[in-house]
Amino acid sequence: MVKEKACIFISGTGTNLKFILKNSRDSNFPINIVLVISNNKKAFGISYAKKFSIPYKIIPYSRKKFEIIAMKELRDKKIKLICLAGFMKILSKNFVRNFKGKIINIHPSLLPKYKGLNTYKRALKDREKVTGCTVHYVDDKLDNGRSIIKKRVWILKDDNEVDLKKKVQKEEHRAYSEAIRKVYASI
Ligand code: GRF
Repeated sequence: MVKEKACIFISGTGTNLKFILKNSRDSNFPINIVLVISNNKKAFGISYAKKFSIPYKIIPYSRKKFEIIAMKELRDKKIKLICLAGFMKILSKNFVRNFKGKIINIHPSLLPKYKGLNTYKRALKDREKVTGCTVHYVDDKLDNGRSIIKKRVWILKDDNEVDLKKKVQKEEHRAYSEAIRKVYASI
């Protein structure tokens, strides 16, 4: 199987990155992670890139400069898929258009509910019974593109934000790789 070249953008802890890297070692996994990009030089996730011997680039600048440098890296390395995994910058319309249909993201809610930040807090405040995560294509509006996979979790009466995050992230770690397989299964 010829694997497509992919890049993962992170800003923080990088647990989703870790699981994608693990799964990408499988010879049947459709992508090869050839680059990790972080806009945050202190992102813990960089340690996973090191552990798995994946080249990484730290681009700690404003959006404009970030995108110019990232774009060059992505073109040079012939990247065909960008996976946003806890990446906290909002990409410009121009950048998204340049990689139309080739950027995916994971979000900790059942979109279109709870776009943006503080999703656990808001779901608890609204006394939701169910929440979860969504892997979706990125378009030029925030947390808006077509959904690829959703995973649900029950919210129990005594759950707090920490409990909920733990449950949702457990699902995220399976969801992201499943979504990547699904993206390529449909091509
Ligand atoms: C995840 O919960 C994801 O849904 C959100 O940011 C978090 C990143 O976690 N976009 P990690 O850095 O992958 O551990």
